[in-house]
Amino acid sequence: MSDHVKSLLYQYGNDILQSAEFQSAFGQTHHRCMTVAEHSLGVAVICLYMCVILQRLHISVQIRSLTVAALCHDLGIMGRSEKYHSNLECYGRHPEDSLDVIRSMIDKEEYNDIIEDSVRRHMWPLTPVPPRYHEGVMLTTADKISAVMERLGWSPARKLDLTAVSR
Ligand SMILES: [Fe+2]
Ligand SMILES: [Fe+2]
Repeated sequence: MSDHVKSLLYQYGNDILQSAEFQSAFGQTHHRCMTVAEHSLGVAVICLYMCVILQRLHISVQIRSLTVAALCHDLGIMGRSEKYHSNLECYGRHPEDSLDVIRSMIDKEEYNDIIEDSVRRHMWPLTPVPPRYHEGVMLTTADKISAVMERLGWSPARKLDLTAVSR
């Protein structure tokens, strides 16, 4: 992982990384081989690599909104075995539950339509409506890429010092 991407992650996501909500996500397994937090870090890292490429093409990206959305897109899944009766219910409901968590974590003034739409639509095409913003397209793409890489045993966040992120 490049130092630039790592510095972007800490610059735009440090408050989320240090939050109790994110820290608790190190305690729940996800995609059978990861934790929710490790998966979310992988998704954020891929999103930030995409940002660097788009910035070189002079395409502007709301990096803070994208980083919040990437790090928190699955936080609603915490406690899934108690909350949801089936995987189908989990697929359908966790984006809205993640939005509830985000609203409790960041200032009202900072919460915006990019975060909301990107997290709400991140399961697309399992949800019929695609993301409205390019940050959302980046998130849903990074989510799939990260999930495949994790299953192959090659997490995008593998070079991150997780002891520096998790307390
Ligand atoms: Fe998800
Ligand atoms: Fe995800």
